[in-house]
Order: sequence, then structure tokens, then C-alpha cells
Amino acid sequence: MIVIGAGIIGSAVAWELAAAGARVRVLDMRAPAGGATQASAAMLAPYIEGHGSEALSAVGQRSLQAYDGFIERLASEAGRRPLYDRRGTLEVARDEAHGRRLRASAEALATEGVETTWLEGPSLHAAEPLLGPGAVGALLVPCHGFVGGTDLTEALLIAATARGAVIEDHVRATRVRAGSNGRLVVETTRGAMTADRVVLAGGSWSGQVAVDGADPVPVHPVRGQLLHLAWPEQPLARIVWGADCYLVPWPGGEVLVGATVEDVGFDERATVAGVTGLIEAACALVPRLGDAAFTSVRVGLRPGGIDDLPIVGPSAALPGLIYATAHYRNGVLLAPLTAQLVRGLVMDEPADPALAHLSPARAGAL
Ligand code: GLY
Repeated sequence: MIVIGAGIIGSAVAWELAAAGARVRVLDMRAPAGGATQASAAMLAPYIEGHGSEALSAVGQRSLQAYDGFIERLASEAGRRPLYDRRGTLEVARDEAHGRRLRASAEALATEGVETTWLEGPSLHAAEPLLGPGAVGALLVPCHGFVGGTDLTEALLIAATARGAVIEDHVRATRVRAGSNGRLVVETTRGAMTADRVVLAGGSWSGQVAVDGADPVPVHPVRGQLLHLAWPEQPLARIVWGADCYLVPWPGGEVLVGATVEDVGFDERATVAGVTGLIEAACALVPRLGDAAFTSVRVGLRPGGIDDLPIVGPSAALPGLIYATAHYRNGVLLAPLTAQLVRGLVMDEPADPALAHLSPARAGAL
């Protein structure tokens, strides 16, 4: 089994398959987590990201529910516990119309049994005293949280390696084709490699791997710039999600501020406009952030697909190839579910109903 890509998705898939008894080899064109994963704020917030998409909300909810068990199992196999925090989100309304939309979404979530609380006036101030005067109310979703994206990826690869997986970095896969005896050949910058199955989890670069008989998988990069600020002040009580940025209370007195959404191709530069726009948005939401120190900016290319949903499933064009890509804004959230779905396909388990929404067929001749 060859997994192309050692970002959060490839690493989760590699561990899940290795734990199921497969012999796994993972290839990455950089170092593990060196693409979008290292620049991710790694939030677990399906009831915000899923606004407007029932299917995304449903798969996000499933993956979120799997997270506690995923982290427990991983911690015991990897011998280390990645940063994992479920302190909730506060989605801030900046005007009355936005507040009405959030309250309507709270009512819809209540019918699904999802606990939320609408806060305004003194209750909002008590929940987050640092919010600026522009906040007219906010929706608290206690089950949301965040994880350390790089930390989690490292733990996944430690656990996969302990199960016999081999990780090879700085090797680029260029083509996947049929070989002899029903096997697949992966052509790489380090020569040809064979496997019974191949999982394509190359994030934004997935479309650069040619697959014989198939269109290039339609994944495009969407740049996100993310700031790390150091702030030895009273920490934020939870994630604060505003209209123009989100703030994640990171351990050690840091606050992450994300993120730009930019269609600029494979340009991984941080820009003056990106950084200043985030700083202005962050200070409008929490004015005291003006006192924070600027630590760093990270840049990642989210793998955008044809819609909000990832492409996960078998290739019709090249039997044995499985796509696990195009996770766009939710790779970290959807990693446990994606790994579970890929394991089901590889182990010939009964088809999971979620696969119908994620099918590669909806994205072209794949
Ligand atoms: N999931 C947050 C982002 O992509 O910016």
C-alpha cells in the first residue's frame, strides 16, 4: 500500500491502514505536514464551517464525534498525546441581521440535539470579557474545539511507524499506472515503486500526479495566511469566530489569527495585505490584541475541490487507486472519518453511506 502525501489526511490514512494490518509506505514531496497542515489552526467546528451545507455539516459532525476515541487510541499507540482542546466556539454577530441568522441556525441545531447558547449583553460580556464593542451577540457551541495540526500529524506518523509503516520524505510521485499482476506502479523522483493499492492524499498538489486513464483530480490551491501572536494577557475563554477572522487561544500565551482565503495559485508567500488585513480584523474583534507581539505568519494552500466536500473514494479509471483529497477548510476535522472510510474501502467492508456524498465520480472522469 502506498499513500501519496504525509499531511494530516495521508498520515491519518497511513496509521489507520497500518493498524488494520496493511504494509504501508508513505511518500511526501516535502517533510511530513509541510503543506497546508503546518499553517492550519486545526479547528474542529462543523457547525460553523457547515453553515449552508447539510452534507458538510453531517460528515463534519460524524468526524467530530469520532475525535475523542481517535485521540485516545492514538495517544496510547504513539506514546504521546497531541494538543486537543474542546473548549467550544463563540461565533460573533456584528449586526442584527447576522444575529438573526445565528439564532435561526441555533434552532435548527436544537432539532438535531446539538447544544448551543445564544449570548448577548451581560451574558456575552461574562462569557468573553475581551470582545470589542462591535459584537451584538454570539452563538456559543460548546462541543467545538481545536487540535495541534502538526503535533497530531507527527503522532499519527509515530503510531503508523510503530505499526510497520515506512515514511519517505522529499520524494515526489508523478504518475500512477497499472503494473503487472493487478498491481499499481507509482513513478516517483526516486524511481518506480509498486503496490497493491495507492491512496492519493496529496492535498493541493494531488492534481499534479498523473493517473492513467483519468482526468487530473480537480483540486486547486486556496491560500490561507495565519498569524501567531504572543499575548501574555488573560487568555480567550474559547475560539472566537468573527465575520473577518477567527482567533484560537493557543497554549503558552499565543493566539492564532486566521485566515485569509485567496485564489493565487501555488504562491506560498505571506503578504503585507494578508497580514495587515488579519491584524485589523483581529483588533476590531478583540481590541486588546493591539498589545500582542507579532510572532510569525504561516502560509498554507488549502486543497479546494469542486464544492465544500472532499473527494474520497475509489477510482473508476484505475482500479486499486483511492482518492482522499480536496478537504479544503476541513482536513483536520475530517481526518478521522476519512481514514475510517479509506480503511473500509481497502478492507472491503460494507460501503459506508457517507461515500455517496464524497464520490470521485462527481468530480469528473476519475
Ligand atoms: N478551517 C479554517 C480555515 O480554513 O481557515
